[in-house]
Amino acid sequence: MNTKYIIWNEETGFEPGDLEEAAQIIRRGGLVAFPTETVYGLGGNGLDPLASKKIYAAKGRPSDNPLILHIAEKKQLKDIVKDIPEAAEVLAETFWPGPLTMIFQKADCVPYETTGGLDTVAVRMPEHKGALDFLKAAEVPVAAPSANTSGRPSPTLAGHVKEDLDGKIDMIIDGGEVGIGFESTIVDVTEEVPTILRTGFITRKMLQEVIGEVKMDPALLQVSPEQKPKAPGMKYRHYAPKAEMTLYQGEIQDVISHINRQVAQDVESGRFLPEEIGILTTTESASRYPVGQVVTAGSREEDTEGKYLYDALRRFDALHVKKILSETFYDSAKEEAVMNRLKKAAGQNVVQVESYESCNRVIFVSKDNITLGPMNEWIFKSILMDKEKEIMSRGLVVLFEEPRNMKVTDILMNHGIPCEEQVSLAFDPEEVTEETLIITMNFAEKVKVLEDYGMERNVYTLRELAGEEEEGDIDPPLGGDEEAYEASYTECKELLYKIKKKLQWR
Ligand code: TXA
Ligand code: MG
Repeated sequence: MNTKYIIWNEETGFEPGDLEEAAQIIRRGGLVAFPTETVYGLGGNGLDPLASKKIYAAKGRPSDNPLILHIAEKKQLKDIVKDIPEAAEVLAETFWPGPLTMIFQKADCVPYETTGGLDTVAVRMPEHKGALDFLKAAEVPVAAPSANTSGRPSPTLAGHVKEDLDGKIDMIIDGGEVGIGFESTIVDVTEEVPTILRTGFITRKMLQEVIGEVKMDPALLQVSPEQKPKAPGMKYRHYAPKAEMTLYQGEIQDVISHINRQVAQDVESGRFLPEEIGILTTTESASRYPVGQVVTAGSREEDTEGKYLYDALRRFDALHVKKILSETFYDSAKEEAVMNRLKKAAGQNVVQVESYESCNRVIFVSKDNITLGPMNEWIFKSILMDKEKEIMSRGLVVLFEEPRNMKVTDILMNHGIPCEEQVSLAFDPEEVTEETLIITMNFAEKVKVLEDYGMERNVYTLRELAGEEEEGDIDPPLGGDEEAYEASYTECKELLYKIKKKLQWR
């Protein structure tokens, strides 16, 4: 089949004759891909079972996955659904035209071929001038899934549709780049409490503001992996790029350092060539990755995280990268919509990046910096191979310089740990950089460092960082005999080994 390309332009609309030709293809049972504000759709006459069958065939899509009917005017709704619940009236009034799809009981005229055998039907009125003109001209409700081959990212450019469907459909309307970049929110209004089946640009909060209580399909919240999603399409592993993809979640500067370290390791070890590694980021941090194929998914500042996500995933495929490392784009305005797509692309492969990972200086903080602080300082120095790390100890109550507790020196010597002479030094916030890890002996000290000194990150108690409880204190063996000091030494050493492992330090 020869696919015809026509152009729709924001200012000038369709070329003369094009719109009528597109509408005729639909009425004659053919397929036309068209732009909407979310993603491109692959349209056919939604009341014609043969047209729906053609859509499934062109996409290579399982036919139990129902299609969305697109309408140009609200008054078309009553012809294709059995009844319109009150909540739906309100939602249509508020959000149509727009990126919201609603599920209704279907009218008899809607064939099961369109609804994947269900008695319900999905309906949406898009907010895209070209789409609305096309839908109006078609005169019938247009069934349209996203215009991609099943399993590939949804198309956000006509070029993506061409990649997947050229030669398989009658026409592609090229309307340039879409506005949102991911699919509409789906709400089931047949339920007593309207339920979100797919997250999107219209958030739960926005819905609740106009209709009150709104539930989430438990499958979206991943309460249990066996939970079957109510939107059949959500069960498929969508949007997956060919390369294995991992998401890194945490503070952005930590995530950037982590990804760069990972890439450096992969390249140095010879596991991957630089061009085999893909990095997914936003405009704001793209320049911070010196090695790898860097692709952006949108801009955090402009609030377009996710707009180019699908394009980025397709580009990684075209670049033949073997591995993708990605930032996470949690954006409160769009709630979970972008993260939901990202996680699917990454097969739920998410790594939490802790800010302490990039630290290069450790300060052990104790009360007077005479006993526990110095003891931990020297033990930690002795168990680290990596001498680049700067390890020190400071006290919170240091009025004058005092030499280290003699018994600590004895214990360290007994264990063959070299320790230079030292005197107590006061904790000084000036010594704390972005890459400093502060480890206190007890919880009260942690609170003091956070509150009195205004430190915001990388402050832990020794037990907490070792993976034990945050409020578990280490008491100094003051006044105790040699055995008490020995016990304290053993306790700290065990915790420090755990910390070393957790930090992945050598
Ligand atoms: O933004 C969008 O919604 C785009 C544009 C083209 O409008 N369309 C789109 O269609 O994303 P599609 O087919 O890729 O996704 C439709 C989703 C699928 O997950 C499907 O299972 C669900 O809607 N769906 C359709 N009818 C349903 C029904 N009766 N009950 C439950 N889920 C339904
Ligand atoms: Mg789709």
